[in-house]
Amino acid sequence: MRTVFLYGGLLALLLLSFGCSTDSPQSTFDAAGYVAKSQLTLFWIIFGAAAFVFVVVEGLLLYTVIRYRWKKGQAEPAQIHGNHKLELLWTLAPAIVLAVIAVPTVMSIFELSTPPDEERLEITVVGHQWFWEFEYPDLGIKTSNELHIPTGKVVNLTLNSNDVLHSFWVPKLAGKQDIIPNRSNELWLIADEPGVYFGQCAEFCGIAHAKMRFRVIAESPDEFDKWAKDFLRPSVAPKGMASQGAKLFNEKGCIACHTIQDNPIARGNIGPSLTHFGLRNTIAAGILEKDEFGENLTKWLTNPEEVKPGNIMSRDGIIYNDTKMTMTNKDVAALVIYLGSLKPDINKEPIIPGSSSVPSIALGEVPEPESGNKVNGEALFSSLGCSACHSIGTDALIGPGMSGLADRASGRVEDLSAGQYIYQSIIDPSAFVVSDFPDNVMPQVFADMLTDEEINDLVEYLKSLK
Ligand code: CUA
Repeated sequence: MRTVFLYGGLLALLLLSFGCSTDSPQSTFDAAGYVAKSQLTLFWIIFGAAAFVFVVVEGLLLYTVIRYRWKKGQAEPAQIHGNHKLELLWTLAPAIVLAVIAVPTVMSIFELSTPPDEERLEITVVGHQWFWEFEYPDLGIKTSNELHIPTGKVVNLTLNSNDVLHSFWVPKLAGKQDIIPNRSNELWLIADEPGVYFGQCAEFCGIAHAKMRFRVIAESPDEFDKWAKDFLRPSVAPKGMASQGAKLFNEKGCIACHTIQDNPIARGNIGPSLTHFGLRNTIAAGILEKDEFGENLTKWLTNPEEVKPGNIMSRDGIIYNDTKMTMTNKDVAALVIYLGSLKPDINKEPIIPGSSSVPSIALGEVPEPESGNKVNGEALFSSLGCSACHSIGTDALIGPGMSGLADRASGRVEDLSAGQYIYQSIIDPSAFVVSDFPDNVMPQVFADMLTDEEINDLVEYLKSLK
């Protein structure tokens, strides 16, 4: 019986020890930066104090149990009530232990609550159901799911939520910080060594919470600067299958939710930014590795629901919901090639954000659009990706359905004809946002992109939808 207990106990210890691996990708024992290291030091101090108390208390207990155990024929021992010395001792001893824990804990809390007063990189993090958006306001960079940082530099993160509670956690670099809607929290960290650090959301935020991961890619300052500079360069121009993919990206409505800096109509902000997606190592918020032949990306685009249940792309994306828009295997292949090709063209100069000209609106009377070509308008409606947000029936997608638009548009604004109303809505999408539809979703680019003739064609086509 004894041996059974002995071996059973040893086996249990062995099994428990498997949980204590120190080299797993999210182990806090392998701290790789100042913040994580100081939190780890605190852990060891508290662990040491707890271990000391455990050994002393259990030791005394065992000693007493064995030394003073009942012996045959022994009379009942003397009954003691109250002992000032002992009571003083077991009040003071825990107080000292608590002080040992409290002093470094409070010092660490104060130290880690605000970043040190030195040059730092500011990054805004936005938690979305279920991906991460990273914006570098001083560098003009916005990317998703892979956070590039320079080593040895203080990185200050401002954490915001687009929807519900999330929590930002890169175990090897810093502790968790909650992300709360309508509130900005902050967290700072430093990475000592270049490397890829795993991160994940640590607050239940809905069905795909466990699949809301990310990577922190720490690079030497030189490599980081190169990455940041290259990020502002336009992508390599798509060729062959990639250019077919670029066309599909618009037509299949991907632009309604995703931003690609080089594509003037891809300004969606519902899904992650895909600018220079070809540089990424992972897909779908760190769930899948990006393999050389695009197998995982194909899997993701073909059936996103299988990879990340509950994701918004499969729920709302028109290609997954309207059988007329479903992609063929060839379409998927073209998109995979296009997305993989989105890498900076080092022969092109970086575009400093804010330097591009803002669409200028001429002052004067609103012109009545000239009559256009309906067939051309229909082709434009499809090639510009309008159908991703607007059905040509009455169904409301992201934007209103277009059927009967002419009737609704005429007279909505005093003295504005249906044609003028539609024309204005194309060149200035936030001019008349219909209530219950989001503002700032439709790209503000058509004024620059389209010729007057093309806009007239579009208006003509839209007016014809009864
Ligand atoms: Cu975001 Cu859990």
